[in-house]
Order: sequence, then structure tokens, then C-alpha cells
Amino acid sequence: MTQCTELWVDRKQLRKTRIVKAALPPLAEGEVLVAIDQFGLTANNVSYAVSGDAIGYWAYYPAEGDWGKVPVWGCANVIESNCSQVPVGDRLWGFFPMASHAVLVPGKVREDQFLDVREHRKVLPALYNGYRRTRAEPEFLQAMEVERCLLFPLFATSWLIYDYLVDNAFFGAQQVLVGSVSSKTGFGLACMLHNDPGVTQRIIGFTSAANAAFVKGLGCCDEVVVYGEEATIDSKVPSAYVDMSGDARLTIALHTLLGENMVDSAMVGATHWEERGDTGALPGARPTFFFAPAQVAKRDGEWGPGVAMMKAMAASADVATKVRSDMRVEWIHGAGDLSRIWVELLDNQIAPTRGLMVSLL
Ligand SMILES: NC(=O)c1ccc[n+]([C@@H]2O[C@H](COP(=O)([O-])OP(=O)(O)OC[C@H]3O[C@@H](n4cnc5c(N)ncnc54)[C@H](OP(=O)(O)O)[C@@H]3O)[C@@H](O)[C@H]2O)c1
Repeated sequence: MTQCTELWVDRKQLRKTRIVKAALPPLAEGEVLVAIDQFGLTANNVSYAVSGDAIGYWAYYPAEGDWGKVPVWGCANVIESNCSQVPVGDRLWGFFPMASHAVLVPGKVREDQFLDVREHRKVLPALYNGYRRTRAEPEFLQAMEVERCLLFPLFATSWLIYDYLVDNAFFGAQQVLVGSVSSKTGFGLACMLHNDPGVTQRIIGFTSAANAAFVKGLGCCDEVVVYGEEATIDSKVPSAYVDMSGDARLTIALHTLLGENMVDSAMVGATHWEERGDTGALPGARPTFFFAPAQVAKRDGEWGPGVAMMKAMAASADVATKVRSDMRVEWIHGAGDLSRIWVELLDNQIAPTRGLMVSLL
């Protein structure tokens, strides 16, 4: 009988965790058991917890009472199978709990992917129900498992924001303002804009004093501004704001400074999850929530299913290769160390140079 280790998080007090070890019951017909040997951990996972009820992230792998299982992007091997189309030995990449093992119910199985068709997941955003069967993928992708867990889900979003801006001719903006630019989603966007010779807009990144040198070292911003010094930017030119921080103070400061020159304002994330708050009515474009799956759906309709995600993957691989030397991958083994690092992540104790990879096996 397989022993499973999981880290549960209190949905109401995110710093409170519980290590749960249990023997897994035998598989039912159609199920597969996977051993999750690695997953990435970033502020995005904190956001999954913070918006777990609003968007449904807690519902992918339900727990008991007030406890929840935070979803992560990881790689796993199928180690037992009651599904003939997904045999033992299959290698998967997808959305898992912070756990050593998980049980999936494959459906709509193709050579390169399947969906988990468990009843309770059918009503949840479909993007997260897909599992890539990576042995069917190009070798260069198979060789990038760490990058795929740690960077690709974020860089794919960076690419979708880049695509959204290009698609809308930057709403007439001459500069792009990136909030919390030291985040992977933030600097991924800045790099993609910087690497496109067709983009003439200036790229201005906002970050904390501690992370400014890291961002400057990446060389993807025309200007790096430390929080509190927003007034130094040129407020007379039309600007598009892409915010990964969710910090109400920063949003109010930039909208007030730019007024009608704030021509678009996209709310992407909330790395400053404890500084969120009501911004009230703001001058300029109304801040609008950017939900990556919506841009995928738009492009799937225009370009055909899967085309946008393949472009996002290619761009992610490109940026991941370029920033490899700027980051150091750090492995966390075991649920005790994971619970400690989870609290450090909540408390902003993880420098952007540290790439956290975890295994509970
Ligand atoms: N809407 C979508 O579809 C979508 C998709 C992907 C990601 N996102 C969001 O984008 C954001 C960035 O995610 P990521 O995984 O790329 O982040 P990450 O690389 O882990 O970001 C690290 C950076 O976030 C800031 N930070 C981290 N923890 C903090 C804390 N507790 N308090 C204040 N600042 C903190 C710091 O940047 P600074 O010093 O520069 O502020 C830090 O360098 C997340 O909120 C994520 O949910 C949204």
C-alpha cells in the first residue's frame, strides 16, 4: 500500500500548515496513481491560496474542514494504472497538490495529453485539468523539467500579457509600467517586450529596493524604479500598467500621477498579498483583472486550438534559457522543510535569485 505525504494549509490563516501522512486506498476502475517527484514553488502558489475560494483553486484537490491543498505545477510518474490508455511509466506535467502522490482519472486521452475528468473538477477552469504526457514531446522540452515547473506557467502568462498588449497596439501607450517586476511573471514580460525589436515602448519596472539590482542585472527594463519613487517617471506620455504586485498604494500612486495618460491598467497578480485593498475610483483607465485563460481562449478562436500555448511555450523556453545564470535552483526535500519555506514565501523572505523546487517523495 502506498504511503502519501501532503502539506495542507489553513484556508483562513495561510501561515498555519499541517503535514498529513496516509495510506492510499486501492485504485478504482479508470484511476491512475502518480508519484510527484518535483514541483515548483513561487508567489503564484500564494495567490492560488489567497484567491482559492474566489477562483476555485482549493477545489481541485479538496481537503477536510478549513484545510486546503495548494496547487502547484509539477512532474510525476504513473506508478499504478487502472486506465489502459495511460500506462505505468508515463511521465506527466501538470497541476498537482503539494504532495508526494495523487490519484487522477484520465479522460479524453490523446498521445500528448489527457484531462482529469473527475466529477468535481468538471466545473473548474479547464486549463488546469490538462496533463501533458511529456514523452510525446520534443526532446528539448523533456530536458527542461525544472524550468517547466518553476518558470513556464509564469512565463506563459508573461507571453499572454505581451500578446494582449501587442494585440491591442498597446492601447496607444508609449511606455509599459510593470509592477513587482522582480517576479518571474513580471521580468518574463519585461524580457519578452525587450526582446521584440518591433516594440518601441519604454519598459519601466517597479520593485523593492532589495530586488532592484537583480532586475537591473537582467537588462530588460529601460528604467527600474524603487517603490515610493514613482514620481520620477515621465507622467506626460500615455502608459499601460501591468501589475503583478496587487499593492493598492502603488496602483493609487501611478493612476493619480498619470491621470488620463493611464490608458490601460491590467491587474495580473498580488505578490503583495497583504497590501491589497480598495483603491476607490481612480483617474485613467479602469483597472481590469487579467485572466490568462481568457486570452488563450481568444487566440484559440482566432488561430486554432493550442497555437497560442505553443507560442507561449517557445517564448518561455527562450527566456528561461537566457535567465538561467541569474537564478539558482534550490531543492527542498520533505514536508517539514516545505512548511518552513511556505511561511518564508508568505513573508517575502525569498530573494528572486532563488528558484524553489520541492519533492515530498
Ligand atoms: N492572472 C494570471 O493569470 C496570473 C498568472 C501567473 C501569475 N500571476 C500572478 O503574478 C504574480 C507573480 O507571480 P510569480 O510566481 O511570478 O512571483 P515570484 O517570482 O515568486 O515573485 C517574487 C517577487 O514578488 C514580490 N513578493 C513576493 N512575496 C512577497 C510578499 N510576501 N510581500 C510582498 N512582495 C512579495 C517580490 O517582488 P518585488 O520586490 O519586485 O515586489 C519578489 O521578488 C503572482 O501574484 C501570481 O499569482 C497571475
